[in-house]
Amino acid sequence: MAEVITKEQMNEQCSFMAKIKEENNIFAITHGRERRACTKTYGCQQNENDTERIRGMLKECGFSFVDDEEEADLVIYNTCAVRENAEQKVFGRLGILKHIKEERHGDMTIAVCGCMVQQEHIAKQIKKVHNHVDLVFGTHALYRMPKLLYEAMHRKKAVFDIENSDGAIAEDIPTMHESKYQAWVSVMFGCNNFCSYCIVPYVRGRERSRKSEDIINEIKELVKGGCSEISLLGQNVNSYGKDLDEDIDFAKLLRLVNEVEGVERIRFMTSHPKDLSDALIDAMAECDKVCHQLHLPFQAGNDRVLREMNRHYTRDEYLEKIRRIKKKIPDIFLSSDVIVGFPTETNEDFEDTIKVIEEVEFDHIYSFIYSRREGTPAAKLDFVLTDEEIHKNFNRLLEVQNAISKRKNDAYVGTVQTVLVEGKSIKDENVLSGRCDSSKIVNFKGSPDLIGKYVKVKVTQAMTWSLNGELAE
Ligand code: SAH
Ligand code: SF4
Ligand code: F3S
Repeated sequence: MAEVITKEQMNEQCSFMAKIKEENNIFAITHGRERRACTKTYGCQQNENDTERIRGMLKECGFSFVDDEEEADLVIYNTCAVRENAEQKVFGRLGILKHIKEERHGDMTIAVCGCMVQQEHIAKQIKKVHNHVDLVFGTHALYRMPKLLYEAMHRKKAVFDIENSDGAIAEDIPTMHESKYQAWVSVMFGCNNFCSYCIVPYVRGRERSRKSEDIINEIKELVKGGCSEISLLGQNVNSYGKDLDEDIDFAKLLRLVNEVEGVERIRFMTSHPKDLSDALIDAMAECDKVCHQLHLPFQAGNDRVLREMNRHYTRDEYLEKIRRIKKKIPDIFLSSDVIVGFPTETNEDFEDTIKVIEEVEFDHIYSFIYSRREGTPAAKLDFVLTDEEIHKNFNRLLEVQNAISKRKNDAYVGTVQTVLVEGKSIKDENVLSGRCDSSKIVNFKGSPDLIGKYVKVKVTQAMTWSLNGELAE
C-alpha cells in the first residue's frame, strides 16, 4: 500500500492556507482589491486535475483568479515533461514573465510546478537562468503547496522542493473544478511500465491506487454539486487496485461507480493494451452508465519497434483485443496514441503503423513525433530516419487518419444523439456545445438554459473534428 499523507500533515497545510488568507485579507483592505492568481496548465488530464487542486488551495488562501499573467500577483505554471516542445513553451513564458516582473519592480510571485521540474536538470536550469522564479515544486510536493507558497512569499531566496519519492497519496485537498457538470477523478497515480521513450514514470513515481471508498465518496460529493459525468483517471487504469488490500480491480471499480445514484455517464483513461482484460470489456458492456468509448494507445504497428519501446504486446495481440471489444460493443468509439519516428523506426516499420490505423479505423488518433527524453533508455538510441523523413511520415499519418475520422463522423449524420450541454461554442455565442456518449463534440443552436442538461440532438452535418446538429425535442 502506498504511503498516505496523514490528517496532521494536511492540518499543517490548512494552517498555512489560513495564514496566507489573513495576509491576503489585509492586502485587499490596503489595495482595494483581492490578490489575484493566474494558473496555466500544460500536459495531460492528470495535470489538469492537479491544477484544479492547486486552484482549490489558492481559493482557500483567499486569492481571486485572472486568466492573464499581466494582471496577476501570483503566477503558477503547472508543467509537462512528456515532449521537448511542452518544456520549451514554459521556458518561453518564463522569459516573458521576467520582463513583466522587472517592470513591476519585483512585485510578483512566480511558481513553476509539475512534471517538468521533477527532473533535476530542469530544476538546475531554472535556478541558474531564471532567477526571477520564486517557487519550484515537483509532483510529489503538490499537497505541501500552502507551506511552500507561504515561505516563497516571505523569503528573499527562491524555494525549491523537488524531492523525489515513490509517491504518496494525499486525500482531501481542496479542489476547484473547471466544469460543474463533468469532472476528472484520479483513481491512481504514477506508472510502473517504463516504456523506453517515456519520462512519466520518472516524474510521477510508482503506481499507487486510491481506496475505492475514497473514490466513491469524492464522486458522491461531485454529484451533490450538480456533476453527472465522471471521468476516471490514471496513467494505466487497468492496474488499478493491484497495490491495495481490498479485493478490487478496475472492472469492479467501474461497477461500483455505475451504482452511484446521480452519475449519468462514466468515462476513463488511459488503458494499457497489455492489461486490458475481458473482465473490463464485460464491465463496459454491462454497465449502463459507462460510455462506449475506449482510448487504447498502440504507439507503433511493428513488433520489433514495440519490443524496443518495452510495450509488452505484439501487433496481433493488440488487434485481437480490438476485435473482442468491437464484438462486445459494436458502437465503440476508439481512439489511440501513436509515436512517429521512434529512433529505430524505418520507413517499412512505419507502414505497419499505417496498416493498424487502416485496419482498426479509429475515430481519433493523437499522433506525436518522438521526442528524446533525458534519462530514458531510448535516449541512447541512434536515429535511422532523418527529420525530413519523420515529418513526411507524420503528415501521411494525419492524412490517412483524417480521412477515416471524417468517414466515421459522416456515419453520425441523421442519427439522434444524447448530448450533455457543456456551454456555448467558442466560435459562436448563439451556438451550444456538448459531447455525445462516444465523446464527439456536437454543436447546435439552443437556449443557454440547456447548459448542464442532457438533450437529444439530431446530427445534420459532419466535420473532421466535430458534428453539427439541431435540437430533436
Ligand atoms: N499513460 C498513457 C499516456 C501517457 S503520455 C499511456 O501509456 O497511454 C501520452 C502519450 O504521449 C503517450 O501515449 C505517447 O504516445 C506520447 N509520448 C510519451 N513519451 C513520448 C516521447 N518521448 N515522444 C513523443 N511522444 C511521447
Ligand atoms: Fe509512459 Fe508507458 Fe507509463 Fe504510458 S504506460 S505513462 S507511455 S511509461
Ligand atoms: Fe501528464 Fe505530461 Fe506529466 S503527459 S503525467 S503532465 S509529463
